[in-house]
Amino acid sequence: MYYNWEVQTNTEELKVVCNLIRNGELVIFPTETVYGIGANALDENAVGKIFVAKGRPSDNPLIVHLADKRKIEEVAQNITEVEQKLIDNFMPGPFTIILERKDIIPDIVTAGLNTVAIRIPDNIIAKGIITFSGVPIAAPSANISGKPSGTSIQEIRKELEGKVSAIVDGGKTKIGLESTVVKVVDEVPVILRPGKVTPEEIEKVIGKVKIDKNVLAKIDKNSVVESPGMKYRHYAPESKCKLIYCENELDQIFYLKKYIKEYKGNVVVLGFKEHEEKIYVSEGRFINIGSKNNYEEIAKNIFSALRKADELKPEMILIEGIKKEGLGLAIMNRLLRTCEYDYIELKNS
Ligand code: TXA
Ligand code: MG
Repeated sequence: MYYNWEVQTNTEELKVVCNLIRNGELVIFPTETVYGIGANALDENAVGKIFVAKGRPSDNPLIVHLADKRKIEEVAQNITEVEQKLIDNFMPGPFTIILERKDIIPDIVTAGLNTVAIRIPDNIIAKGIITFSGVPIAAPSANISGKPSGTSIQEIRKELEGKVSAIVDGGKTKIGLESTVVKVVDEVPVILRPGKVTPEEIEKVIGKVKIDKNVLAKIDKNSVVESPGMKYRHYAPESKCKLIYCENELDQIFYLKKYIKEYKGNVVVLGFKEHEEKIYVSEGRFINIGSKNNYEEIAKNIFSALRKADELKPEMILIEGIKKEGLGLAIMNRLLRTCEYDYIELKNS
């Protein structure tokens, strides 16, 4: 069933949706980051359906979503001072913390790890569904495994319709990138996946923060990583993609033009609004991802833009990169994987 709660949550329909969750069915629902495909986290069979629907490898654990902080102690234990500080400062919000799990969480959710990822979404629809279902909800991003995360229902329906019992539409998601994933190791928060909550913000609260080396590096499939999700091809359209970032704007335009020519125009450019008039591609082949200094806008648009570009089936998708600072770190982390590290970077020397 499809429900549209973009303007307001319908309480009768909310009851239906929460019953589905309690009965072990899958529901797609919005959060402030991206859409999730959720199931009762305490029900092994229900969680198993998520892995089937997404085609997700079983060694990639899921995030457990809770309605409020008081629920954390029901699923996690031995919370340290640093962890508590992170919880107090960044939850609810686009922030996921890895904690020591309690046995109530089935192995299938954590892929057998002794930790569990916890998030409290700051979105009224997500909150309503979790609260009235009365159970923690395991939910990965709503997309086929390996594809860009779903940020609007139109694109999610194309991919996952028929694989879930209900789809709740809350409009385009506010942030557009998945949450920041953090694990505290030896009292220092380590960012396993960058997101809207930036290293700079965490540093301000805790004093020290690390970025896992795999956030920007290319990862060998057989290596041991802190977060299993890091290993997999991700955010990837069917077409090949190339990421271009030159500090100097003239170089940037030069490289864009060079590759447009090299592929004889059979490209789609995911570019900044400011560059639309500066490069020449055929009608509809330039997709505006936002203003070059507005990282919030770029984050919000990027996954939809990748899907749109892919529908045009170009030989190459050329993507404009940004600085790896603030929210830029999260955007570039996703785009490097999108391009499978086909990346041109030119710094001013
Ligand atoms: O914003 C979000 O986080 C969205 C919305 C729906 O909440 N969810 C999301 O889930 O992005 P997913 O499954 O697409 O990504 C979860 C990431 C994966 O990279 C996974 O490997 C990692 O979190 N993860 C989950 N449990 C973990 C654990 N116990 N230890 C380390 N990493 C974990
Ligand atoms: Mg995902």
